[in-house]
Amino acid sequence: MICNNIGVNEKDHLTFAGLDVCELAKKYGTPLYLMDEGKIRENCRTYKEAMGKYFKNALPAYASKAAAFKRMYEIISEEGLGIDVVSVGEIYTAMKAGFPLENAYFHSNNKTDFDVEFAIENGVGYFVVDNEEELFAIERINKGNSKKQKVLLRLTPGIDTHTYEAVNTGKVDSKFGSAIETGQAEEITRLALEMDDIELMGFHCHIGSQVFDSDTFFRGSEIMLAFAGMIKEKYGYELKELSLGGGYGVKYVESDPEIDIAANIRQVSESIKTACAKYKLAEPKIIMEPGRSIVADAGMTLYSVGTIKQIPGYKNYISIDGGMTDNPRYALYGSAYTLFVANKVSAPADFTADVVGRCCESDDIIQPAVTLPKPVRDDIIAVCTTGAYNYSMASNYNRVARPAIVMIHEGKAYQAVKRESLDDLIANDL
Ligand code: LLP
Repeated sequence: MICNNIGVNEKDHLTFAGLDVCELAKKYGTPLYLMDEGKIRENCRTYKEAMGKYFKNALPAYASKAAAFKRMYEIISEEGLGIDVVSVGEIYTAMKAGFPLENAYFHSNNKTDFDVEFAIENGVGYFVVDNEEELFAIERINKGNSKKQKVLLRLTPGIDTHTYEAVNTGKVDSKFGSAIETGQAEEITRLALEMDDIELMGFHCHIGSQVFDSDTFFRGSEIMLAFAGMIKEKYGYELKELSLGGGYGVKYVESDPEIDIAANIRQVSESIKTACAKYKLAEPKIIMEPGRSIVADAGMTLYSVGTIKQIPGYKNYISIDGGMTDNPRYALYGSAYTLFVANKVSAPADFTADVVGRCCESDDIIQPAVTLPKPVRDDIIAVCTTGAYNYSMASNYNRVARPAIVMIHEGKAYQAVKRESLDDLIANDL
C-alpha cells in the first residue's frame, strides 16, 4: 500500500487508520475528507525528534497552509511544533484553537497595514518579512509598543529546484523575498539593523515544495550562511535563527521515492555545521516549515460513484460526487494520486477511465486514465494522500458545499470540521 495506514479487511473493503472506509462513507456521507490523527502526530514527532537530535537548537514550524482548521492547530500545539501562517485567517483560526502565537511565523509577500496591526496586537511571535515596504510598515505600526517585533528576513538564494513551476519559489525572479544576487537582501538587512522597533532574528529561505532529497537544502543553507558570514563581517551582526522553509516530498504514487526524513535532517545538520565553521558563525537555531510531509499521508478522500460514461473508441469517465472543488490539484498542477474502489479493492482492475468531478468545467479531473475494477453507481472511490492542500484549497465553485473532515484516532472517528450546509452557502448573501 502507498502508506502504512491503508489496508484491506475481510470484506475486501479499504481501511484507513484501522477503520472500514465504506462504513465511514455510510455514516458521514460523501464526499468526505478523512484524517488520521496518529499519522499527523507521528509525522510531527519525526521532525521534532530528528531536529532536536541533530541541531543544537531547532523548531519545526508546521506550514499550516497545507491544512488549516482548529483541530489541526490543537494537535500541532500538543506536539510542541511552531506554525507558519500566511494570513489573518490562519492566525485567527490558530488563536481560536488556543495556539501559542509566540511560536507563529507570519509569512506573505503582501501584508496590509491591517494584517500587520492584527498580528502585532495578537502577539504573533515572528514576521517573516518579504520586502522593504513591509519592514517600514512593521516599524511604523510597532512604534510606541514596549516590545520590539521579532523578524526573519525572507531572502531568495537563487536556486531552482526543478519541481513544478508554481511551487518553485527560491529563484531570483520569484515574487517572494529579497534577492541576495541583486543586493536587495543586504539592503533590507542593513535597514532592519538600523530600526529601533525591530529585532532582527535571522534569515529565511524557501526553495521549493515536494522536494525529494536534501540537495536543495545543502545549496540553500550554504548560500544563506555565506550571506550571514558577509553580514557579520560588514555589520557585526550575529545570526540567531535560520529558517530553511518547507519542502520534503511525499509519496503520492508507487513510483514516487520514499524519503527518510530523519536521515535527511542529519545530513542537512552536517552541512550546516560545516558551513558555520567555514563562515565563522555560531550555529543558529534552525527552523524548518514542513506542511505537506506532516499531513498529506494522514489524509484520504472518499467519493460516491455516479455516472459511468463509456464513449466507444474514445474513453471512459467515472463521475464522482466531488471534484476540483475539494481537490483542485490535478487541475492546477497535474498532480498524481493513487485511487481505489474502496468496496471491492481486490477485484480485477479491468476498466480504464478518467475519474472526474461534477463541476461545469472540462478540467474538473481528479485523475486521468486510472485503471480500476469497473465501478457501479454508489460504489466508493478513495483517493489517497489528500491530507495536504486539498481541504485548504477547496472552493465553493458552482456553489458546491465543502465536505466534512472526519478525524480518526485510536480506532475512533470524530468530526473535526462539519459539512457545509446549503444555508452556509448563502450565509453572507444580502
Ligand atoms: N514554507 C513556505 C514559506 C512555503 O511557501 C511553503 C509552501 C511551505 C513552507 C510548505 O511547503 P511543504 O512542506 O508543504 O512542501 N499548493 C501547492 C503547494 C504550494 C506550496 C507553497 N508553499 C500544492 O498543492 O502542491
